Amino acid sequence: MDQAGGLRNMLSGIIGHAEAESVSSHQTSSLPVSAVAPARRCRAIAVAGGKGGVGKSTVAVNLGMALSMSGHEVMLLDADMGLANVDVLLGLTPSRHIGHMLDGQCSLTDLLLQAPHGLQVIPAGSGARRLARLDSGEHAAVIRAFDELVRPPQFLLVDTAAGLADSVAMFAAAADDLVLVVCDEPASLTDAYALIKVLSRDFGVRRFRMVANMVRNEGEGRQLHQKLSRVSDRFLDVVIDFMGWVPHDERLRQAIRQQRAVIDVWPSSRSSLAFKKLAGAVDKWSEPERTGLDRIAFFGNRVPSTAGY
Ligand SMILES: Nc1ncnc2c1ncn2[C@@H]1O[C@H](COP(=O)(O)OP(=O)(O)OP(=O)(O)O)[C@@H](O)[C@H]1O
Ligand SMILES: [Mg+2]
Repeated sequence: MDQAGGLRNMLSGIIGHAEAESVSSHQTSSLPVSAVAPARRCRAIAVAGGKGGVGKSTVAVNLGMALSMSGHEVMLLDADMGLANVDVLLGLTPSRHIGHMLDGQCSLTDLLLQAPHGLQVIPAGSGARRLARLDSGEHAAVIRAFDELVRPPQFLLVDTAAGLADSVAMFAAAADDLVLVVCDEPASLTDAYALIKVLSRDFGVRRFRMVANMVRNEGEGRQLHQKLSRVSDRFLDVVIDFMGWVPHDERLRQAIRQQRAVIDVWPSSRSSLAFKKLAGAVDKWSEPERTGLDRIAFFGNRVPSTAGY
């Protein structure tokens, strides 16, 4: 079964077949009104990139903390199931992870870890092979658990795994916004392109926001953006916005070795200033365009409670 089929099947278990059918076409206007009016708006931002090691987790952690520092309520979901490293990056020691929640041993709230500056982290567990093999129903269960939150955050950052696995595509497609982290390496560009292709072709994602990581200056970042846009414009019907750039920063690497976010240890370092700027950009984003079925099924607050999967 293709990914769109998998997603449709999963969604049909949650919200009913008719609505799920519309995922691929993004015709969401037929949804019941109650389903499109969440009690409180939680903006889900997935951070993806295709290639491993381009800085997805670094961007997710520091952007999340920057948003938190500027007064927003922010949660960071580590969706790199089984190879989690957000907790390692932040020096947190989770005693439980998503797997425990899926096994009914705890709730989502029980999993929340407090990181500096109010950032809350949901750890994914490392070395748990079961987590690396979650099926689409279990991914849905992870997402459905956000329903339990009495007070959803303003922003939910989702750090995704490398590659094109279904889990990456599903989390990425389900979010309101998709941040693509790209660095100046041919494989980063080709992998980002491959991810864009899958997400646009199989999940109807049309808008992407690109962050150029580990570049020397804005010009280099914009050049990278042009390279990616040029080929995407030619072959795919998508829009890729240039969201900003993060310099290669030795301070950032030092912070990682201390298991702290650079924005926490050295808030005035070059990379920290860049993350603050990215957070400022998020603040200026207009309302998400992709409200609808995909978002509701994953991170919305009104998924019918009778749904089974
Ligand atoms: N702006 C930067 N300046 C200097 N080093 C960086 C920067 N961004 C990332 N790095 C380095 O790259 C490494 C990988 O970063 P990170 O773990 O965030 O990548 P990732 O894309 O999440 O990787 P994975 O695909 O394995 O999850 C970091 O440990 C850090 O050493
Ligand atoms: Mg990572």
